[in-house]
Amino acid sequence: MRTILVDPVTRIEGHLKIELRVEDGKVHEAYSSGGLYRGIEEILSGRHPLDAQRITTRVCGVCPLAHSLASAYCLENAFGIGGEIPEAGQLLRNLIHGANFLHNHLLHFYHLSLLDYLDLSRLSGPLADLAGLLSSDGGEDTRFSQEETERLLDHYIQALEMRRKAHELEALFAGKMPHDMAIVPGGVTYKPGLAEVAAYRFRLRELRDFLKSVYWPDVLLFLERYRDHFQLGRTRNLLSYGGFPLGSSSAVLENRLFPAGVVEDGGYRPLVLEEITESVAGSWYSGTGGRPLESTLRPWPQAQGGYSWLKAPRYQGKAYEVGPAARVRMVLAKGEQRLQTWIRGMLRDLNISEEELSSVAGRHLARGIETLYLAQKLEEWLDSLDLSGLVARPFVIPDQAQGMGLTEAARGAVGHWIRIERKKIAHYQIISPTTWNASPRDEKGVPGPIEQALVGTPVPGEGRLFAGRVVRSFDPCLACAVH
Ligand code: FE2
Ligand code: NI
Repeated sequence: MRTILVDPVTRIEGHLKIELRVEDGKVHEAYSSGGLYRGIEEILSGRHPLDAQRITTRVCGVCPLAHSLASAYCLENAFGIGGEIPEAGQLLRNLIHGANFLHNHLLHFYHLSLLDYLDLSRLSGPLADLAGLLSSDGGEDTRFSQEETERLLDHYIQALEMRRKAHELEALFAGKMPHDMAIVPGGVTYKPGLAEVAAYRFRLRELRDFLKSVYWPDVLLFLERYRDHFQLGRTRNLLSYGGFPLGSSSAVLENRLFPAGVVEDGGYRPLVLEEITESVAGSWYSGTGGRPLESTLRPWPQAQGGYSWLKAPRYQGKAYEVGPAARVRMVLAKGEQRLQTWIRGMLRDLNISEEELSSVAGRHLARGIETLYLAQKLEEWLDSLDLSGLVARPFVIPDQAQGMGLTEAARGAVGHWIRIERKKIAHYQIISPTTWNASPRDEKGVPGPIEQALVGTPVPGEGRLFAGRVVRSFDPCLACAVH
């Protein structure tokens, strides 16, 4: 058995090291390690509860809105107002958050992932100059013609402009990006005027045009060429908290655009929140893990058996993949009928099963599906926005309370938990999407989802190409994961 170290994994967010143990040209075992400690949960101890939201949005510059929302939901839950958020406030938060999804999925497809599949050495002229600035591994296994490569690289450049538009959408209602100023417990601080609503609509239409006429055909072309990648990077267990509340409650998981739940061995089950725990057997921490509000963890670089700064979230003691594949599976189990019919038709056309969604190609397909769907929903929400009433409700900070806030970031389930004592934060815990996906082994030796997905991946020669494709298909965000 030989060992290949990929350190750092490039074209992802943050610091990730992957160690591959290779035998007979295939990955036999994989170890995923987050190399940075940040300590944001510890920074929060003893602070005013409202600080939590302003600080935790800074957990990440890529998916800050998911943390901002999870923290707002968490505080609302602790303040006892989670069931009574004004509908306009809720919709504005969805409009901000949804635009960030579009931004993230474009970023992932064009700027983080696509270069794994392109052979840039084929280019000539001005595109060759650009190619000189980019690193790509795709030459070893590219299936795009020169004309397609040039077109995709042209879309790579157009997608930069489209991401800017998506950020403008967010900032119109959120005050600024990446770290919003508008989302607060109880709703939003700012009621946009007609000019801002029109500006949002105008940009959203431009963005939708691009998604329908450029991004989606590119995703389909990719799937056609890399059909065998529905077999690469597979996992079995999927989990979602659900996202985008549809009513006035930020706490109820049943009434959300993307449904909550778990899929295990093919079957859907409702989520039992008490079953979420964190293990630190493979992590550099002292103390005990367990449920988020009961853990007593401190950083400890000398920890026996530790090889990562990520903790290992588990559900009923098992590792679960979170993200777009999980969300689409939950939609197929519990979601809108119209969307289910569309997805089932697509799976039939591609001749793939629901189970194959949790694969390298399946994750790209799932992102494509939810990007188109969400862009349409954003326009519907904008049409139904009634700004004649309140966009936030008041609250009182209790002496003692605890709360939980759950939502979805583009790359998966985000949860925040708080315990308040004497009107101060006594304990705060975050479990980020990539903490699930890139987690190390737990006390039973169960590998994390990326570690599992890598097993069996072909490693021709010194090639890290396929392993890179598997890891990047999860859209890892390590800054979030270590928080
Ligand atoms: Fe955490
Ligand atoms: Ni992030």
